[in-house]
Amino acid sequence: MPTIPAAQSPLAENEPHRHRQVAESFGADPERYDRARPPYPDAMVERIVAASPGRDVLDVGCGTGIEARQFRAAGCTVLGVEPDARMADFARHTGVDVEVVTFETWDPAGREFDAVVAGQAWHWVDPVAGAAKAAAVLRPGGRLAAFWHVFEPPAAVAEAFAVVYQRVVPDSPFNIKAMPKRALDVYQIMCAKATDGIREAGGFSDPEQWQFDWERSYTRDEWLDHLPTTGPLTQLPPDKLAKVLEGVGVAIDAVGGSFTMPYTTVVVTAVRTSTP
Ligand SMILES: C[S@@+](CC[C@H](N)C(=O)[O-])C[C@H]1O[C@@H](n2cnc3c(N)ncnc32)[C@H](O)[C@@H]1O
Repeated sequence: MPTIPAAQSPLAENEPHRHRQVAESFGADPERYDRARPPYPDAMVERIVAASPGRDVLDVGCGTGIEARQFRAAGCTVLGVEPDARMADFARHTGVDVEVVTFETWDPAGREFDAVVAGQAWHWVDPVAGAAKAAAVLRPGGRLAAFWHVFEPPAAVAEAFAVVYQRVVPDSPFNIKAMPKRALDVYQIMCAKATDGIREAGGFSDPEQWQFDWERSYTRDEWLDHLPTTGPLTQLPPDKLAKVLEGVGVAIDAVGGSFTMPYTTVVVTAVRTSTP
């Protein structure tokens, strides 16, 4: 199941970045977010660093600092841009330098970077204005890399989530039941929008897509800790959230109390070639 379903949801539209209530809802519980969300594959971080001309990284929508800390550990200097002060505060406490503002309205004040990265955040940024801004702050040869985790729990767990979510939140803009069957199909919609935005903005090589496959296991408690950090659940009142978690918990118990999640981390990336 993707973190954000596509069909009939904010992401099915051309402009998900206009759904500001969802876009800036992830700071409802930053501690849980940082604890429950998985980091990015080391191979991805290493490839982005190796394919950039230097180590100055701008992290768009850095959230609590998950990928920012990974890039710092890989030897980079990282500046985060993050509009949700709750997420930014958490990131700062882990040592990440953050400016609290949307990327579209952020003032680079003449600063330049070797890489502009975005972890599960680029779809909340205007795809053309965001790419144009990335081009404006990247040094020649600098790299834009937007990436997302794609994952699908076992069918029984995903189905239980869809059924209980539909029952508890029938009027949600996230129509889980109308999602495409394969999570990767959902993310291809976002990758295509990111790719189109980069092409339209200009100043970049033709975008490429990289993929990193990995997996991790979840106990019932670990998965129920992760679920409230996902777009459809960040704004649910506690009683409704509890009902959704109860229904999913029953389904996880029925498959043995834990499961292995296959993940694919997809990257849309392009190199700055000229002034846009
Ligand atoms: C799903 S979270 C990802 C956080 C972090 N990058 C990660 O991978 O854990 C999306 C983040 O994008 C931020 N965001 C939303 N709209 C944005 C915008 N226009 N410019 C920059 N960041 C934005 C949200 O506040 C949120 O912290």
